[in-house]
Amino acid sequence: MEQQRPPSVLVVFGADGDLTKRKLIPSLYNLASSQLLPQEFAVVGLARTPMSSADFRDKLGREIHEYATGPVDPALWDWLAQRLYYISGDFRDSHAYQQLQDLLAQVDKSRGTCSNYLFYLATAPSFFSEIVRQLGVKGLTLQTGSSWRRVVIEKPFGHDLASARALNHELRQVLDESQIYRIDHYLGKETVQNILVFRFANGIFEPVWDRRYIDHVQITAAESIGVEHRGSYYEEAGALRDMVPNHMLQLVSFVAMEPPSSFDANAVRDEKAKVLRAIQPLNQIEVLRSTVAGQYAEGTIAGQRVPAYRSEPNVSPESKTATFVALKLFIESWRWAEVPFYLRTGKRLPKRATEIAVQFKRPPFLLFRKTPVDQLEPNLLVIRIQPDEGISLRFDAKIPGPTVRVGTVDMDFQYTKYFGHTTSTGYETLLHDCLAGDATLFRRADSVELSWKVMDPILDVWKALPSGSVPKYAAGTWGPQEADELLQRDGRQWRNPS
Ligand code: BG6
Repeated sequence: MEQQRPPSVLVVFGADGDLTKRKLIPSLYNLASSQLLPQEFAVVGLARTPMSSADFRDKLGREIHEYATGPVDPALWDWLAQRLYYISGDFRDSHAYQQLQDLLAQVDKSRGTCSNYLFYLATAPSFFSEIVRQLGVKGLTLQTGSSWRRVVIEKPFGHDLASARALNHELRQVLDESQIYRIDHYLGKETVQNILVFRFANGIFEPVWDRRYIDHVQITAAESIGVEHRGSYYEEAGALRDMVPNHMLQLVSFVAMEPPSSFDANAVRDEKAKVLRAIQPLNQIEVLRSTVAGQYAEGTIAGQRVPAYRSEPNVSPESKTATFVALKLFIESWRWAEVPFYLRTGKRLPKRATEIAVQFKRPPFLLFRKTPVDQLEPNLLVIRIQPDEGISLRFDAKIPGPTVRVGTVDMDFQYTKYFGHTTSTGYETLLHDCLAGDATLFRRADSVELSWKVMDPILDVWKALPSGSVPKYAAGTWGPQEADELLQRDGRQWRNPS
């Protein structure tokens, strides 16, 4: 256990922002509460807002009550608060890095943190390369003896293949790949991690997990919220960049990967990368045929009128940014050839629900020809990522009575029923793992680039389309009609989370 909790300092760039108060500090508090932080631990925040370390502690001390996932124990908070430090500075100014170096030396002495530093870049992506460069100039990324230096990078990781490659290249001027922890917060979700356990810790699913038994896979990541205060970011990103090359393709990789030879970080990431490499890139015609963009118009969600995307703050009234995307992908491998993976994600859909639905092939009808049964429903395995986390398996059963009638029933596993309510921010595992040096749940450079390789042809074709061609959908509906037609053409239909 000691090895899991090495003495360390977490240095947060952008410590005055949302991520720190909403996720990082509450997660550290939860880790401390589970005794998963070492005694020799400290947090150094660095951001532009002028503040002293005492101000920083006070501010977070007030905010923790709002963002903690449960009641705050004053003694435990005190333990963490004593370990918080702050430097105000400009990320482009070498003076800030000098101050950081001096403070880290001081903290190492007073807290016994052994020169192990985890630099967390919770900043705008335009600062990523510059911060890493400056850390390199000061020698702060150099690992000497048994001390380690790691850098955590939040998304977005590039906005297309070229920019992702350039960023990887810049990072590797200073860092070794093993020092880079690219976060995808979906991988911090228990239910996402459970996909691997579900598949590889049980003997009964893997034998039917392939093209012989599976008809198709649907992955839906629906949100009922709009773009909120993130209009300017979203105008540039859109639904495709925001959700697909990262969260959704990670889900595809977990569902489709081969069993890794071990749970070693590289063994798992090698298998995930193979899936991404095997996704057949779409040509221009296929982009037009197999992808659907959509943008929300005004509508009603949970009885409330909500404005159109184009009327949101910091959004152009003529915006052609997609707030919804649906697409069909194929993985060219022996396991998955000809099995479509349908992905869909969008803002202002009727509800928040992320789920993976694996639909199995229909059984032959032979036995029921002479009965009133006119069709057999295929088996369906649904992995509910959030909310209402769980897994259900639908199968056909005889409806009691003298004639043979068949109905569908569900076997349902709900996390909360079995394990109770777990209170987490979703960042605990990720923070714990980068402090422990376990990169299994982090994205490697190849996976980032391979994902953009799949996205680039879609982005190119979409960019060339006239603005009027983004279909609208009323807020509170499951996206534009074109998304339904995408499946109807294949004789299938979306399963809308109930
Ligand atoms: C983020 C996107 O990465 O994921 C957001 O930028 C989106 O637009 C969010 O709302 C969804 O995450 P979650 O955990 O709420 O499903």
